Amino acid sequence: MKRVFSGVQPTGNIHLGNYLGALKQFVELQDDNECIYCIVDLHSITVPQDPKELRSHILDVAALYLSVGIDPKKSIVFVQSDVSGHSELSWILTCSAYTGELSRMTQFKDKSRGKESAPAGLFMYPVLMAADILLYDTDIVPVGNDQKQHIELCRDIAIRINNKYKKTFVVPDGRFLKEGARIMALDDPTKKMSKSAENIHSRISLLDEDGKIKKSIMRATTDSDGEIRFDPENKPGVSNLLTIYSVLSGKSIDDVVASFAGSGYGDFKKELVEITKEALLPIRQNFSEIRESDELKAILRDGAERAGAIAEKTMKRVKDNFGIGF
Ligand code: TYM
Repeated sequence: MKRVFSGVQPTGNIHLGNYLGALKQFVELQDDNECIYCIVDLHSITVPQDPKELRSHILDVAALYLSVGIDPKKSIVFVQSDVSGHSELSWILTCSAYTGELSRMTQFKDKSRGKESAPAGLFMYPVLMAADILLYDTDIVPVGNDQKQHIELCRDIAIRINNKYKKTFVVPDGRFLKEGARIMALDDPTKKMSKSAENIHSRISLLDEDGKIKKSIMRATTDSDGEIRFDPENKPGVSNLLTIYSVLSGKSIDDVVASFAGSGYGDFKKELVEITKEALLPIRQNFSEIRESDELKAILRDGAERAGAIAEKTMKRVKDNFGIGF
């Protein structure tokens, strides 16, 4: 069995991009692999957070994990800061990471652009992410395309340390879907769908009501040539909607295009509204019950214990190989 690890930040507004790029893969992988899914709260504090809201968002993401179909009997679900090995390993990896490579990370460049000084945590973010992955001897990391550079850095650090010390880490592979790995914003299909965009119609959040889903899709940016065709470069809006349709329906993009031959954008969007509503309804129905249950916290406690036991073994090996501790 391969070991799978991935994480989601508890920052609210978990959206269709997160679902199609990452969460849907998490569910599919859990039957044939040993999966560990984390709520990465330490990553979320690289930007200011309201403590009360953050706690609540942690439980929201935990409940969403279960609502989309992650089964805590099969997979480990836990909160990052509940296992101290993440921070501990992060420091050890920091000592083998270079400021040059960290300053080339596009996410850091985007978030710090125009600022004279940025929080050091934002700069170190990818090293903490590498620690998350390497702490569990992970083979596969299912993520969206936006995390590709971070996974590469994680691999580089692991290989560097394996070459310098005794073989210490498993070198992981990213797992990116052909379709769904980069869902674009509905109002501006040149940007990726994001949790933090100001316009709520730029995204569909997993807990959006039917009326909001309809509004966001019906006003999604398309183009003026009126032809339903997959061409991300020249028709980014329509292509993004076709991708969403394809992944949600399980049909290939070619089949979707063929089934709408001769139709207008309005009809296509109406159909997309229906299949999106259908896909999200069970998630929303499961969510409220799970979010309010006492069992949720018990699942997270149990997950932290199981994850902690694996992390402890790795930390012992790392410390031995580095010659630290006593
Ligand atoms: P986060 O919380 O930003 O996003 C969670 C997951 O959703 C994917 N994603 C998308 N996929 C397709 N289209 C989009 N528009 C879109 N937006 C986001 C992300 O790629 C991600 O898979 N750094 C990570 C969290 C993390 C992590 C880890 C992941 C921390 N440690 C270790 C894997 C392994 C992040 O910010 O995800």
